[in-house]
Amino acid sequence: MITRISLLFSSKNVEFVRRAKEDNIKQLRIGITGSPGTGKKTVANALCHLTGLKVISLNKFALETKSGRRIDREFVVDIQSLRRRKIATKGKIVVGHLLPLVIPKSSLDFVAILRCSPDVLRKRYLVRGYNKEKIRENIEAELLDIVSFSALTKYGRKKVSEFDTTHSRTPDLVARQILQTIEGKRPKQYGIAKWSEKASKSDRSLLRIMRS
Ligand SMILES: Nc1ncnc2c1ncn2[C@@H]1O[C@H](COP(=O)(O)OP(=O)(O)OP(=O)(O)O)[C@@H](O)[C@H]1O
Ligand SMILES: [Mg+2]
Repeated sequence: MITRISLLFSSKNVEFVRRAKEDNIKQLRIGITGSPGTGKKTVANALCHLTGLKVISLNKFALETKSGRRIDREFVVDIQSLRRRKIATKGKIVVGHLLPLVIPKSSLDFVAILRCSPDVLRKRYLVRGYNKEKIRENIEAELLDIVSFSALTKYGRKKVSEFDTTHSRTPDLVARQILQTIEGKRPKQYGIAKWSEKASKSDRSLLRIMRS
């Protein structure tokens, strides 16, 4: 008996378990979604660094495959045509706010929904040079949990967790939290973004307008 226990923890076994774990990670199919500017691309790159998984951006893929058309200065994605392309997800991190509309539940093992407070999002949009209308639309979407609701409905609670990128949390830390959640070392979280409760004066008036 004692010999068996010592065998179980021999360095060979530890190496075997480590390799098996690495192999499992390399097969993963992860989705990252959230409102624009919540940090999807940045966190995906950090997660790629951590795991070696490849990143696919749905926006970039749509542009490269011409799945959509230009209207004024914007490219409007054709969701149906993107869906028909049946994007391969094995060993990939698929990123985009359109994720729940494009990638089926059976194609992903885990979906991270990134959340960010409207105050911080507004600053990120200003840096990007978004106009007032675009800022309002995107803040509205975050306040109303639009992407989060759509991801939870599509993928279900077993495969989904939310992550906050608002405060001093670095993208690398968020990527680690995602990995820990996938490994079952961290509980899944939902409803973390109670923005309407904490909303600033201007966001509260925006919410009033939307609800009237
Ligand atoms: N903890 C964090 N995690 C991720 N991004 C962060 C974090 N803190 C600050 N940021 C910043 O947020 C900004 C937006 O990030 P990013 O471009 O990755 O967003 P996105 O969700 O991919 O946006 P879009 O949907 O418009 O492509 C970046 O400037 C990034 O550095
Ligand atoms: Mg992006």
